[in-house]
Amino acid sequence: MSKPLSRLLRREQRAFLARDRAGWKAHLARVRAFLGEGFTAADPARPVLVLGAGSGLEVPWALAPPLTEGWDADPWSRVRTWLRHFRWAPWTFEDATGGLAELEATVRRALGEPWSGRHRDPRAAARRLTGLLPSLQPRPVALSAWIGEHRPGTILAANLMGQFGVVAEGLVEALFLPASPWETDPERPDPLAEALEAWTARAVAAFLQVLVPSGADLWLVHDRAVVFSGGRLELGPWTDAWVDQLQISAPPLEARDPLAGIDVPALLTGSGLTVGARGRWLWDLAPDQRHLVEALHARP
Ligand SMILES: C[S@@+](CC[C@H](N)C(=O)[O-])C[C@H]1O[C@@H](n2cnc3c(N)ncnc32)[C@H](O)[C@@H]1O
Repeated sequence: MSKPLSRLLRREQRAFLARDRAGWKAHLARVRAFLGEGFTAADPARPVLVLGAGSGLEVPWALAPPLTEGWDADPWSRVRTWLRHFRWAPWTFEDATGGLAELEATVRRALGEPWSGRHRDPRAAARRLTGLLPSLQPRPVALSAWIGEHRPGTILAANLMGQFGVVAEGLVEALFLPASPWETDPERPDPLAEALEAWTARAVAAFLQVLVPSGADLWLVHDRAVVFSGGRLELGPWTDAWVDQLQISAPPLEARDPLAGIDVPALLTGSGLTVGARGRWLWDLAPDQRHLVEALHARP
C-alpha cells in the first residue's frame, strides 16, 4: 500500500481512538452484541472474515471462532487488536475497495504538469481530476480473490463501508496539500466533490457485489448517516428510507450520506439475499456529530 494511504489510515484510526468516548457506551454495546451474534451463529468449521477489523474496539474477538481472520488496510490494526484482545489472528492489510491505488495515481496525474513535473494550479488540477474520476471503477479484486480461495461461511463488515468516501476524500486532500481541492463557497456547486461522491457510490456497490455472491452469511454494520443538525434527535420505527426514521426537533435536517445514496437493504434483497435481523441506532460520536448506524444480517 502507498505511503500516503497507509499514513492516512493510521492517522484516522488514531483520531478515532483518541476521541472522547463518553457518549459511545450504548453504541459499543449494540455493535458488539450484533457482531457477537454473527460470531456465535457462524459455522466453526468454516472461515470467518472480519472486514474493517480495526483495533477491535467494536469486535468481540473472544466470541470469534478459531478460523476467524481480520482484514484492515491500517498497518497497525493487527497489533492493536492483539493488545486489546490478546488474539493474533491471520490478517490481510489490503484496500477493501480495490480502487484507492488507482484513485491516488489519478490525483497525482491531475496534479502534475507532465512537461515540468511541477504541480498544476490547484483549481486547474481539481477541474482535471473532476474530468478523470468518472472513468474510475473500483474493483475489490483482492477481496474477491480471498473469498474465492477461503470460501468463508460468515463475513462481518465492522463499520467499514461508511469509511470508503471519507478515506477517498482524505487521500485527495492529502495529495493536494498545501492547497485545498474543494470549492470554498458553500453556495456554489462543487463538481469535484460530486464526482468523488459518485466514485464512492461505485465503490460501495462494487464491494457489496463481491459479498453478495460469496454464499456467506453477512453481518454488516455501517454509518447510514452523519447528522450535523442541532436540537433533539430521535428515531422513529424502522422505515425503508432512513431519512424518514429520523425525528428532529429543529428542522431542516442537515446530514451527510457516507454511502453516497446506496440503499444497502434494497441492494441485498434485490440481489436475492434475505435480510433477517435489521436495526438502526444513534451514536453520539461527538457533541456536534451524531451518527445513524445501520446493522443488517443477510443470508443467501
Ligand atoms: C470506523 S473504523 C472501524 C473500527 C473497527 N471496527 C474496530 O472495532 O476498531 C473503520 C476501519 O476501516 C478501515 N478502512 C477504512 N477504509 C478501508 C479500506 N478501503 N480498506 C480496508 N480497510 C479500510 C480503517 O483502517 C478502520 O480501521
